[in-house]
Amino acid sequence: MEVILVENYSEMSEHAARLIEEQINQNDHSILGLATGSTPLGLYEKLIEGHKKRGVSYKHIQSFNLDEYLGLDQDHPGSYYTFMYENLFKDIDISMEHIQIPHSQPRLVEEECKRYDQVIERIGPIDLQILGIGSNGHIGFNEPGSDLNSTTHVVELAASTRNDNAHFFESLEEVPTHAITMGLQSILKSKRILLLASGERKAEAVKRLLSAHVSEMFPASHLWNHDNVTLIVDQEAYKLVSQKGSEEVAR
Ligand code: PGA
Repeated sequence: MEVILVENYSEMSEHAARLIEEQINQNDHSILGLATGSTPLGLYEKLIEGHKKRGVSYKHIQSFNLDEYLGLDQDHPGSYYTFMYENLFKDIDISMEHIQIPHSQPRLVEEECKRYDQVIERIGPIDLQILGIGSNGHIGFNEPGSDLNSTTHVVELAASTRNDNAHFFESLEEVPTHAITMGLQSILKSKRILLLASGERKAEAVKRLLSAHVSEMFPASHLWNHDNVTLIVDQEAYKLVSQKGSEEVAR
């Protein structure tokens, strides 16, 4: 795992945007794995800036989102479809036919999971997957205890995850109890993974991740079994690991 230590959220976002734009420069038909939540918001702002000011084009890019809440209307303000549309897709030139997000109200949930895996299989593999890390170590919505061999599946959200995400809703009660998520196996098939962590709220999770102890109870630790992971972490999120400054690379 390559660890890139940066000063703050803005630098993390900038660095991540640069890596994504490099990927697009190398292959303008790249397949990106996208994430939602507070962490990638700054990154998406930088990507929009790159598109508007420097003409970075997403015309041939395809994308897969990691997860979606179950039960919400696609257009509900809290859905991940709305999140992606409002925070990225509407301001870049990606074709809406090239974006994939699990359906939030499928007629048959199991069928939807299968369909999603088949589409990843057909279009993928994902060249560059963006990930945030949950305070409990989840990636996507793969909560502690998730099976390493899991493909896209339905999950019951951990209480801590619903709490963490309540600020996107009017109240905690409104946060859905279930979601569809790409499984750990689906995520680990990506060619390259970019994990982002910012702020004190993530310090405990980053410390646990960097102890390199792989455990089912801490899903992000499975990333140690992938040979192309870059963690971009800011000082606040890194502070329980070390007091050292400067950039550090550990493989
Ligand atoms: P956050 O969530 O970006 O809102 O902190 C990260 C995650 O749950 O993966």
